[in-house]
Amino acid sequence: MTKFKVAIVVGSNRRESINRKLAQAIARLADGRVEVKLVQLDDLPMYNQDLESPLPASVARFKAEIEDADGLLFVTPEHSRSIPAVLKNAIDWGARPYGKSSWGGKPAAITGTSPGAIGTAVAQQHLRQVLGDLGALVMGGEAYVTFKPGLLDDAGAIADAGTREFLQAFIDRFTSLLARLGAGAPAARAA
Ligand SMILES: Cc1cc2nc3c(=O)[nH]c(=O)nc-3n(C[C@H](O)[C@H](O)[C@H](O)COP(=O)(O)O)c2cc1C
Repeated sequence: MTKFKVAIVVGSNRRESINRKLAQAIARLADGRVEVKLVQLDDLPMYNQDLESPLPASVARFKAEIEDADGLLFVTPEHSRSIPAVLKNAIDWGARPYGKSSWGGKPAAITGTSPGAIGTAVAQQHLRQVLGDLGALVMGGEAYVTFKPGLLDDAGAIADAGTREFLQAFIDRFTSLLARLGAGAPAARAA
């Protein structure tokens, strides 16, 4: 069975980020079907076109990690009803230099969590639009998670049965999409 390489992009640089914890819990639900790489965003400089040549080492590393992945899993908080600055900054770097975007044709899935009732829905809609404009293949459907005490257990797994079932279906759909697109297959990689 093909093991898909999935880059996890968490839109938070907070040490105790609930979105990073959720991302790690979702990765466990993929149950060996994916090899995950948590991509670092907080060492990327603030985007500035003056820095594009040569690319800072952290930016070159970030773009290589995105390009190397078969699929991208975005797990993001919502800041002021939109995409957190740390994530938008990373997306802008990924889109540059002109003609060398790392996003085109990349299968992507989006989820996120916040203590708020609509669980990052607005940020996810904005992210969906931006990634679509950049040519990523964003999986349809919605996955908004309200973060409540007890959602995760002490080992970091999803404790709430309903949420676990929902996110299991979410990650299963994403791995099916990767399989349908031929991501990870030797032929696709060589192309
Ligand atoms: C600058 C800022 C803006 C925020 N705006 C929103 C918001 O629009 N909607 C929301 O549900 N939560 C909002 N929050 C609360 C976050 O959901 C909460 O801080 C959450 O823990 C962030 O996720 P993280 O722990 O993964 O960083 C905001 C937090 C910050 C720091």
